Amino acid sequence: MAHQMAAEPVLSVRDISKTFTLHLQGAQVMPVLHRLSFDVPRGSCVVLGGESGAGKSTVMKMVYGSYGTDSGKILLSHADGVLDLAAAQPRQVLAARRGTMGYVSQFLRAVPRVPALEVVAEPLRERGVSASQAQQQAVDMLARLSIPQRLWSLPPATFSGGEQQRVNIARGFIAPYPLLLLDEPTASLDARNREVVIELMRERLAQGVGMLAIFHDAQVRHAVADAVVDVQAAASVAAGSVSA
Ligand SMILES: Nc1ncnc2c1ncn2[C@@H]1O[C@H](COP(=O)(O)OP(=O)(O)OP(=O)(O)O)[C@@H](O)[C@H]1O
Ligand SMILES: [Mg+2]
Repeated sequence: MAHQMAAEPVLSVRDISKTFTLHLQGAQVMPVLHRLSFDVPRGSCVVLGGESGAGKSTVMKMVYGSYGTDSGKILLSHADGVLDLAAAQPRQVLAARRGTMGYVSQFLRAVPRVPALEVVAEPLRERGVSASQAQQQAVDMLARLSIPQRLWSLPPATFSGGEQQRVNIARGFIAPYPLLLLDEPTASLDARNREVVIELMRERLAQGVGMLAIFHDAQVRHAVADAVVDVQAAASVAAGSVSA
């Protein structure tokens, strides 16, 4: 063959659909997505677009395995193979989270009494990195994101919104995950920290990391997005299928 086959995307989403059943409302069904498909190639940033309520975070939670998928496939390149997250067992989802996909949610889910330094170092420790090396990298990351040193040994529960978000970003970016899921990572950051995060994203993209992201900030989107997926369209078809 004259050409090598193009590298497989790190994530390939095929025809996923999702309907919520509202048990508190007499099991009323609410279709949110109808047959959405997209790929996340290595080294590129794919942005989920659409209005508020379109289903962007829902797509992200389906990929991370927090929400189930009604139909379709979510194919993740993982451990020298391909794992369909839509059909995976919980332990396979956990293994994929540990080894292959990182997630920066909009809000940090702070565990009480765990110091910021440990919150950030934990993903490395889970991957078998030594305590001292994980700690050193966590220090570098916290410093880069301008978290004052006096906060490193404190639990992030009482940190400001922007400080918590930066701890969250430090935790999400510390391990070399091949896929990063980013749900509005810069929403409560000032301009200077936003630049730091853009720089971090560009570094990872250059290393071949694939990203699936939601950015309301047009400037951030402009700086890193390679493609936009229209979640709105899949949502409209889903909504239409109710009234039909
Ligand atoms: N666990 C759930 N149970 C029931 N409905 C849900 C659930 N999660 C999300 N939804 C509904 O699905 C729709 C899509 O929500 P989602 O959070 O994915 O939107 P979004 O595109 O991320 O919006 P935003 O830009 O405001 O964050 C909304 O109508 C929401 O109410
Ligand atoms: Mg959302």
